[in-house]
Amino acid sequence: MCGIVGYIGHRDAYPIIIKGLQRLEYRGYDSAGIVLFDGTENNLAKTKGKVEDLKHKAEISISTKGKLGLGHTRWATHGVPNDVNSHPHYSNSGDLVIIHNGIIENYESIKAALIKRGYEFHSDTDTEVLVNLIEEVKKQEGVKLGKAVQIALNQVVGAYAIAVFDRSKPDEIVVARLGSPLAIGIGEDEFFIASDASPFIEFTNNAVYLEDEEMAIVRLGKEIKLRKIKDDAIVYPNILELQLNLEEIEKGGYDHFMLKEIYEQPRAIKDTYRGRLLADQGIIRMAGIDQNLEKFLNANRIIIVACGTSWHAGLVAEYIFEDLARIPVEVEYASEFRYRNPVITENDILIAISQSGETADTLAAIKMAKERGAFVFGVCNVVGSSIARETDAGAYTHAGPEIGVASTKAFTTQITVLTLIALKLAKEKGTIEESKYHEYLVELEGIPAKVERTLKTNPLIEEIAEVYKDSSNCLYLGRGYNFPVALEGALKLKEISYIHAEGYPAAEMKHGPIALIDEEMPVVVIATRKGHYEKVVSNVQEIKSRSGKIIAVVTEGDQQVTDLADHVVEVPETSETLTPLLTTIPLQLLSYHIALMRGCNVDQPRNLAKSVTVE
Ligand code: G6P
Repeated sequence: MCGIVGYIGHRDAYPIIIKGLQRLEYRGYDSAGIVLFDGTENNLAKTKGKVEDLKHKAEISISTKGKLGLGHTRWATHGVPNDVNSHPHYSNSGDLVIIHNGIIENYESIKAALIKRGYEFHSDTDTEVLVNLIEEVKKQEGVKLGKAVQIALNQVVGAYAIAVFDRSKPDEIVVARLGSPLAIGIGEDEFFIASDASPFIEFTNNAVYLEDEEMAIVRLGKEIKLRKIKDDAIVYPNILELQLNLEEIEKGGYDHFMLKEIYEQPRAIKDTYRGRLLADQGIIRMAGIDQNLEKFLNANRIIIVACGTSWHAGLVAEYIFEDLARIPVEVEYASEFRYRNPVITENDILIAISQSGETADTLAAIKMAKERGAFVFGVCNVVGSSIARETDAGAYTHAGPEIGVASTKAFTTQITVLTLIALKLAKEKGTIEESKYHEYLVELEGIPAKVERTLKTNPLIEEIAEVYKDSSNCLYLGRGYNFPVALEGALKLKEISYIHAEGYPAAEMKHGPIALIDEEMPVVVIATRKGHYEKVVSNVQEIKSRSGKIIAVVTEGDQQVTDLADHVVEVPETSETLTPLLTTIPLQLLSYHIALMRGCNVDQPRNLAKSVTVE
């Protein structure tokens, strides 16, 4: 994880790097650091804490002048978050300075060898080992920095996106990538380096994304040079024109990114189906499916791999695919799937779901499935991300940048894409009645307006949050399509408010969680009218008779559950298949308000990061 930013050019590097780091804080925020070359010397500031803390420290302790610099925001892997372990790291001579996102797995053996040669280490990080290895190679081989980086990287095992420069040659930065993202923004005689394009979007729309095992030397006054790390083969840079705009990555009047992103969902869902869902013509158009239709129609089964919230979207998809398209589906945590020995055949399709497109375990699962002959389809949000590039075909969610660490609009747009795919396959396979298919298309098209209506429950949810903000536990129950929503609701609450929460299939409550219910225990029950309603009513009665507090998400006009529950939040009526797109919304808002009332950092919850690029 971690976010990296670098600049070399004619502007002051400091404000670019600080602002860039703030935009990348979603990638990690336990410590931060910056180095600036002022024309003669490097000036370094590092601190435990957020980029804002770094800003305060840098402005009082170092000269912030310089047209060359590197910055880093960290999510600790090796070594606790403290000032010393923060990046950038110097080599022993002080000439080289590095920032790194990733893990060098064999750093201990390299460190031991360097210590024997007289090197000293000040931090516990693998990164300090790497910069000294580069220095040692440079010295021993008598080569330039680029070559030394290349030789050193061929000796390390692990994952990295690095940027390094030499203060004695301050006209170039060397960058390299394996397993962690790295983008280079190309301006007029200036270059920007970053984990994604957000730090440089106001300066240039032209960017090159390094592929795995590639490195580049960015040198002032020269064209960018790309090479393969392994065999030195020249790679011609594919310069992309970015579509991102500044407004999308700023809060736009909201107090938090999470709230902004919750409220963006009507727009985001529309963007997801725009050009794909042609309800009036009865057509779903998706290039990634159209071009591989035979594969999908002949698939033995679909294996879905994902992590976190994306895994929950996968669970919803399992219900939809099996229900509508009659294709067997298995949903797997990518981290488990990749380390067992799964049976994968050439007639299996693997669907990888990932907001960031960078999650290390999901990426590794894809690689394994490909090696075993499966066709791999990606559902990603970030355009050009590693997973999007690694898959055989895919569909973007088009949700726009999601910056709040707690995923919201990514979830609903993933479900939208997966619903479109399931409906398309159902139609092609003839597993759905024509009239039903058309009803779904129209209903799906109307979902953004219903999400909009659901968002109007916000003041009521704020009141409910006030009542339960001091709870220590919370149970979420749902059945069928809304079981994964219960899991997602519980995840949202625990990740941002630190309240212990569990999601359960409502009927399973009797096999354990019911023992937890007393008058202190809030239970969120999703009880929409078409989803095994009578059974859920019984579950609600069981909670009631044990004095549990019931917060129910029901269909507009509901009677039975409304009579039993302590609080009800209504969502508009829709087909059961599409209810997750509505029932999720109140649960997102509930966790948002509770976290806020508890004084938690909603957008940057402790210990978490948005993009998990380490195992
Ligand atoms: C992290 C994030 C979650 C996300 C998960 C999977 O844990 O905090 O919000 O759901 O990674 O990420 P992906 O980008 O693959 O969807």
